[in-house]
Amino acid sequence: MASQKKIVVFTGAGVSAESGISTFRDSGGLWEKYDIKDVATPEAWMKNPNLVLEFYNQRRKQVLEAKPNAAHKSLVELEKKFKVQIITQNVDDLHERAGSKKVLHLHGEIRKSRSTFNHELIYEIKGWEIKAGDKCEKGSQLRPHIVWFGEQVPEMEHATEIASEADIFIIIGTSLNVYPAAGLVHATKTNCPIFLVDPNEVTNPGISNLVMIRETAGKGVPVLVEKILKGEVLLK
Ligand code: OAD
Repeated sequence: MASQKKIVVFTGAGVSAESGISTFRDSGGLWEKYDIKDVATPEAWMKNPNLVLEFYNQRRKQVLEAKPNAAHKSLVELEKKFKVQIITQNVDDLHERAGSKKVLHLHGEIRKSRSTFNHELIYEIKGWEIKAGDKCEKGSQLRPHIVWFGEQVPEMEHATEIASEADIFIIIGTSLNVYPAAGLVHATKTNCPIFLVDPNEVTNPGISNLVMIRETAGKGVPVLVEKILKGEVLLK
């Protein structure tokens, strides 16, 4: 039997928009309401940890109330025929809850906390809050398990390796504004078919074999998945 081809799916906030989770840079997006430097940087945490905790507590509440949508669910179907790896910039767990088996989170996970003393001490959060005074086993305050602006992206090297093995690369719902994540597409093999599903104009990151699908994730992804499963996407 021929070895299974590998599909790598790179997602951003847009894949969860139809589940009711706010995106960042659309009109009405989170970065219109909050200043990044007040809530999503190490400096913000030093200056006003309560504000940072509250910001992510609210994000967590929204995630707990959300459900996977048609895009998350259809990506699971691909696993019937392909090796599928999701690389997400999202901190929600909707890919996992839809049933995707391999999900790599580049920017952290909202339902986890981590120690401010040792970044390897990571915990599942029970409920929706991290409170001031919640501590790790070493007695240090817990912070959200999120990669903030100005911090290293520890999973980037791993993600780059995965992208370089893709036989099909699918990008969904990201403005491709935040690096290094946005540069991942450049790690793909020459001639790897690349699709980008987004209802809005996204600047082509300089890739010639990129097919833009101007649809929402909930509409565009199930159609694309069906085409791939029927063998209508030519694999090199
Ligand atoms: P953005 O908010 O920058 O971009 C969201 C993208 O989703 C835009 O291109 C929208 O057009 C698109 N979109 C909106 N509705 C959609 C729908 N229904 N279906 C498909 N696409 C839709 O979010 P990201 O690119 O994910 O990082 O942002 C990247 C990073 O910036 C995030 O991971 C976060 C943020 O600051 C950190 O917090 C570290």
